[in-house]
Amino acid sequence: MDQWYGKLALVTGASSGIGEAITIALLHHNVNVVGLARRLDKMKKLEEQMKSAGGKFYPVRCDVRKEQEILDAFKFVEQLGGADILVNNAGLGFHETISGTILCFIYCCNVEIRRTLKVRTKRRDQV
Ligand SMILES: NC(=O)c1ccc[n+]([C@@H]2O[C@H](COP(=O)([O-])OP(=O)(O)OC[C@H]3O[C@@H](n4cnc5c(N)ncnc54)[C@H](OP(=O)(O)O)[C@@H]3O)[C@@H](O)[C@H]2O)c1
Repeated sequence: MDQWYGKLALVTGASSGIGEAITIALLHHNVNVVGLARRLDKMKKLEEQMKSAGGKFYPVRCDVRKEQEILDAFKFVEQLGGADILVNNAGLGFHETISGTILCFIYCCNVEIRRTLKVRTKRRDQV
């Protein structure tokens, strides 16, 4: 995990379950985390609990079914220098239609992949 020290991770669905557990583990390994979910109150509680961890937690309210909210969240991530890790975990298990879940996944991956390509192209042009 040493290679990720001080890096930034974006975790969708950070307010509970697997996403919350991954967020906690990353913070304990000194990775900073932007957490996306609709329940900001839950993430604020997590922020409070994780204050003494090595990584810093940035909770951001975002419904990943809404493209504009994803774009706004990624703008915030961009201001922090861009994400080094994407954990695209948000979802509702088997309780919601599969099309909704897949759409959320595609939205987030689409935005992040375009951003990564832009950063890589910029870096290549600078060499
Ligand atoms: N647990 C399993 O056994 C299992 C098995 C296979 C796959 N999975 C997948 O693993 C992922 C996490 O599962 P889990 O068990 O940890 O579920 P969970 O405890 O219900 O957590 C789901 C997370 O996704 C977030 N989320 C849901 N809809 C969202 C939306 N529209 N916008 C933003 N965030 C949203 C929730 O946050 P808010 O409600 O605060 O928005 C929550 O943080 C899911 O994608 C699930 O399909 C889980």
